[in-house]
Amino acid sequence: MKLFLDTANVEHVAEVASWAVLDGVTTNPTLVAKEGKDFKETVLKMCELVPCVSAQVTATDAEGMQQQAVEYSKWHKHVVVKVPMTTEGLKALRFCAKKGIRTNTTLVFSLPQAILAAKAGATIISPFVGRIDDIGENGMVLIGQIMEAWAHYKFTTEVLVASVRHPDHVIEAARLGAHIATIPYEVFKKLPLHPLTDTGIKRFLDDWEKVKHGS
Ligand code: E4P
Repeated sequence: MKLFLDTANVEHVAEVASWAVLDGVTTNPTLVAKEGKDFKETVLKMCELVPCVSAQVTATDAEGMQQQAVEYSKWHKHVVVKVPMTTEGLKALRFCAKKGIRTNTTLVFSLPQAILAAKAGATIISPFVGRIDDIGENGMVLIGQIMEAWAHYKFTTEVLVASVRHPDHVIEAARLGAHIATIPYEVFKKLPLHPLTDTGIKRFLDDWEKVKHGS
């Protein structure tokens, strides 16, 4: 399972990358706007830290998306072009697949959308589980449906669980066999923690103090 950070904050990427478990980063226009920094500069800094950085197109027509995809893909070999799940986006996905440009289809909310994006040649699809939870449904049900369908066919498209809100989303993503989860910084920081690890370390260190040892 690959773990990505869902952020446009370079310091947060550097911190989690130093733990030696980070496989990539996903950004989106909202996350980039929140940081208030230059988009290209941010993407390039992140590309130096991880092998896979999603940079989202802002055009809404296929031709515009394709132009942006070609431009972003020239920035760095670690760039993955994020394309929205629309019929125009499908055309751009096919174009990118033919050109060898890696893509991440964003805003996937149903199994038919997931299948269409995979058929159009998406490298990654991003179903947004948290936003489905937000409207009173269960986002992880969609991940279950996609993984069930993927088991029947030979899609090479990786399933990325996006819009993660809490560690339980990561646990469920792993149990369902999703290939990737993209995780906000505040949630990622919770993953290494367990109170029994802390009390266990304290007890070991306290007991070690009772042992006669040279230094
Ligand atoms: C994924 O690539 C998106 O950036 C992200 O997961 C969206 O999450 P949100 O619903 O918290 O905005």
